[in-house]
Amino acid sequence: MKASSRAPRPVAIDQILFTQGFGTRRHCAGLIRHGLVSVEGRVIEDADEAFLTEGLVFEVEGRAWPFHEKALILLYKPAGYECSRKPSHHPSVFSLLPAPLRERDMQPVGRLDEDTTGLLLLTDDGPLQHKLTSPKYHVPKVYEATCKAPVDEAQLRQLMEGVLLEERDPRLAAEPVRAAQARMLPDGRLELTLTEGRYHQAKRMVAAVGNRVLALHRRAIGQLSLPTDLSSGGWLWLDDEGRRQALTAAEDEPAAG
Ligand code: URA
Repeated sequence: MKASSRAPRPVAIDQILFTQGFGTRRHCAGLIRHGLVSVEGRVIEDADEAFLTEGLVFEVEGRAWPFHEKALILLYKPAGYECSRKPSHHPSVFSLLPAPLRERDMQPVGRLDEDTTGLLLLTDDGPLQHKLTSPKYHVPKVYEATCKAPVDEAQLRQLMEGVLLEERDPRLAAEPVRAAQARMLPDGRLELTLTEGRYHQAKRMVAAVGNRVLALHRRAIGQLSLPTDLSSGGWLWLDDEGRRQALTAAEDEPAAG
């Protein structure tokens, strides 16, 4: 084993800023030249000064930034925001994030409709994105739906047994979609746990059983729930524990063939 090739190597501070979304190398060097970057309270004057990135917290214009090789962000999505980077009618969820995070190549982990609220993950970690969104892994997403009419037992049963949805792809249209769980919450809302991510899936499933979703909120992905102390529009970094929680209920990818 080549131990030396695995040893973490210090990285120049302008390169660190660049990878963390603070603009071009030139812009990052400018931030340093203007005395706007510090590490552990010491202003960094040399753009080539190198640091180990593991656990590094640097400050830019007085704001602390923990280094993350790959970003995983939890956002409490408010209604009235689109998950696209190029929204058509409403502001983008990216406008809720600070500039360095907007600059990173993050994508929402499965889109929520403009009027859906709740837990949205964003990441630039491709394999994680795939694992959380691919129907193969069955990661459960828990939604709370306010429905137009009271949901009855027959509707709950139908949602769990499976409904057919109109799809352009005839193979998809022929495959019933089942809720992993459908039950009533004490406040009268419907809790729906879905393991696929078809377009408008929750709303279309509820419509397929003869009811209508008036408001939809995503409370959890896997074992990861929206923190109760995070307000609408707020965001936070997720660490390895958050990643583990989101993936906890994921099933291993079935073997090919
Ligand atoms: N299902 C929907 O219908 N809308 C969402 O935003 C998410 C799941």
